Amino acid sequence: PHHPGQIFRGLAGVVVDTTTISMVNQETNSLTYRGYPVQELCESCSFEEVAWLLWHGELPTANQLAEFKLVERNRRTLGRNVTSALSRLPEDCHPMDVLRTAISYLGADDPTEGLDDRDHNLAKSIDMFAKLPTIVAFEQRRRRGLEPILPDANLGYAENFLQMCFGEIPPAEQVRAFEVSMILYAEHSFNASTFTARVVTSTLSDIYSAVTAAIGALKGPLHGGANEAVMHLLAEIGDVANVEPWLKQAFVDKRKIMGFGHRVYKNGDSRVPTMTAELRKLTSDGKSADLLATYDALAAAMLRVKDIHPNLDYPTGPVYHLMGFDIPIFTPLFVMSRITGWTAHIMEQLESNSLIRPLSSYVGVEQRKVPTLAG
Ligand code: SDX
Repeated sequence: PHHPGQIFRGLAGVVVDTTTISMVNQETNSLTYRGYPVQELCESCSFEEVAWLLWHGELPTANQLAEFKLVERNRRTLGRNVTSALSRLPEDCHPMDVLRTAISYLGADDPTEGLDDRDHNLAKSIDMFAKLPTIVAFEQRRRRGLEPILPDANLGYAENFLQMCFGEIPPAEQVRAFEVSMILYAEHSFNASTFTARVVTSTLSDIYSAVTAAIGALKGPLHGGANEAVMHLLAEIGDVANVEPWLKQAFVDKRKIMGFGHRVYKNGDSRVPTMTAELRKLTSDGKSADLLATYDALAAAMLRVKDIHPNLDYPTGPVYHLMGFDIPIFTPLFVMSRITGWTAHIMEQLESNSLIRPLSSYVGVEQRKVPTLAG
C-alpha cells in the first residue's frame, strides 16, 4: 500500500490514467492495439490500416481505407516554406533535430492553428503522418549529397517512402520488414515520449507542440535513440568471437548495453520475436551471417549472464542497417511510426482532460534569510 508522500522515482509502477488505445501485459508478454494482438496485425494489415485503427478504435472498411489512402497520398508534399526552413539548419545536425524543427515549423505554418477539436486534430495527425516520410527521405538523401525524390501518389506508404530514400522499391522482403517495424513501433502505452505528449496536451497546448516535445523525448538513448546505439554497439563488437570479451569489459566499465532491458517487460519484449524473424529473413542469403551471429551471441550472453532480454530496438537496428539506412536515420524511422500512437494519445487526453501536475518532495536547504550584500 502507498503512503502519503511516498516517492515513485521515474514514476515506476505508477498508473497515471486509463487508455483504450493499447495494452502492454507484463504477465503474458503481450501487446494489443485496440484489442488486436500486434503479431496478428503484422500478419494481416498494412501500416495505413493500423494507423486508422489507432486513431478510430476500429479497423477501416474497404471504403474508409481507400478514402484515407487518397487523403494521405495528397498530403505528402512539403510546402516551399518548410523545405526552405529545413535547408537553413546546420548541415551536420542530427536528423532528429531536423524532425523536431520540421514539426514545430508545420505548427507555425498551419492556418487552422487554434482549432483543436477532434476533426481538426485528426486532419493534423494525418498531415504529419503523410509528411514525415518525405522529410526523413529528404534527410537520408541530403546526407549522401543526393537530390530529393518527390513523393509518388501511385505508391502505398511503405513503397513510396523507400523509393524516396533509395530511388527504387527494394525487394519484397525488405518492404515487408520495414512495414512490420512500422506496425510494431506504432504504439506502446505510456512510454516516455507518449507521456510527454500527454503532459503537453494536458495544458491545452496544441498538437504540434505535443509532438515536438515527444520527438525530443524519443531522441534519448534510453528511449528511441537506442536503435541507433545498438548498431554502433554491434559495429564496435565487430566479430562474433569478440562478444564474450567485449561484454565482460562492458560490465567492468558499468556500461548500459543498448537494446536490452525494459521498464515494463521483465521477461522479454513481446515485439522482439516478430522483428527478429524479419531480421532472419533479411540475412537468409548468408551475406550478413557475421552480423546475425554477433546479434544472437550477444542476446544469448546477456540472458545467461544478466538475465536481461532484448527490447524492440535490438532487432530494428540491424534490420534498418541491412535495408541501407544511415544509422542517424533509425530514430527518425521510429518517429514516422510512433506519430500514430502519439496523436491517438493526444486526442484521447483531450477527450477527458485533467492537467498533469505531480508533486515533489523538497530536500534542499531549510528556509533562511536573504543576506545583505557583503563588502
Ligand atoms: C524503448 O517504455 C516503452 O514502452 C519504451 C519502448 C516503446 O515502445 O516506446 O519500448 C521503446 O525505449 C525501449 C528501451 C530502449 N533503451 C535501451 O535499450 C537502453 C538500455 N536499457 C536500459 O538502460 C534500461 O533497461 C531501460 C532504460 C530500458 C529501463 O530502465 P529501468 O526500468 O529504469 O531499469 P534500470 O535501469 O533501473 O535497470 C534495472 C537493473 C539495473 O541493475 P541493478 O542496479 O538493479 O543491479 O537492470 C540493469 C540495471 O543496471 N540493466 C541493465 C540494462 N538494463 C537494465 N544493465 C546493462 N544493460 C542494460 N541495457
